[in-house]
Amino acid sequence: MRHLLATRDLSYDNAMAILDTAQEMASVSDRSIKKLPTLRGQTVVNLFFEDSTRTRTSFEAAAKRLSADVLNFAAKTSSVSKGESLKDTVQTLEAIGGDAIVMRHWASGAAQQLANFGWSSSAVINAGDGTHEHPTQALLDAFTLRHRLHGQHSTGKDLSGTHVVVVGDILHSRVARSNVWLLHTLGAKVTLSGPPTLMPVGVKTWPVDVNYDLDGLLAQRPDAIMMLRVQAERMAGAFFPSTAEYTRGWGLTNDRYKTIAGTPTLIMHPGPMNRGLEISATAADSTQNTALEQVANGVSVRMAVLYLLLAGQPGH
Ligand code: NCD
Repeated sequence: MRHLLATRDLSYDNAMAILDTAQEMASVSDRSIKKLPTLRGQTVVNLFFEDSTRTRTSFEAAAKRLSADVLNFAAKTSSVSKGESLKDTVQTLEAIGGDAIVMRHWASGAAQQLANFGWSSSAVINAGDGTHEHPTQALLDAFTLRHRLHGQHSTGKDLSGTHVVVVGDILHSRVARSNVWLLHTLGAKVTLSGPPTLMPVGVKTWPVDVNYDLDGLLAQRPDAIMMLRVQAERMAGAFFPSTAEYTRGWGLTNDRYKTIAGTPTLIMHPGPMNRGLEISATAADSTQNTALEQVANGVSVRMAVLYLLLAGQPGH
């Protein structure tokens, strides 16, 4: 593995290697000194063209726990606002000494472009490209599910037999796409639910079921429901009549939450949550919600990805 661009082309063996390595990394995060010398002398560049709280800080924490140096680049305060291209920006950062580029970009396919057009000689990690993919998010979701289902005995186990329902704005969600491919590779059954206007046109070719009856799905007691954020910033027109109607149909309201409260069904959310829209405050704050566990596991998963891509590279 030289880059991590998408889960669609991630093999079963590579996905399992990342999850198992992340399991080892998690034990480092439990120590009082949370640092390994593994990537000393290497530099990770965080190149973010879109806003981020979790993903950027999580990659930074992961790189630092492996003793790498980190350069944080926010496009909004850079020469990108003066018209500098992606290619020139990346080559400038590499000239400063980057070994890995973690990139979030609003254009679907931007990470592929960087890795495959010879614009960069670094390892490229896609931290979210438009509505396309967000592979480390899907990996940390899979890690969280596996840990909740198998605890300390997770190593070597995939997600065969697990049923995950992904709910909401599938159309604009790179998290949904990355999860669909990875969950499928790991043997899980995936059902998508949400307003028909927010279902992608090509969804029939995906390895998923589509079911618009959310209450019926909850009654099936899936292992997890993954609530997606309504991505208003990517919506040029109206995709549902009103936010109240969205919440009534597809939100995890208090009434819906009551039907699964106390059952083993996990509530997952990649964050940031829109409380009162796709998830009620009670559901968001319940112990069934793994959102903060997902964030914590994200650091271990990103440590594993950086380790597998960079350890043994020149400069190490
Ligand atoms: C997601 C993203 O940016 O794709 N957030 C994240 O990385 N945790 C989901 C979202 O913005 O809704």
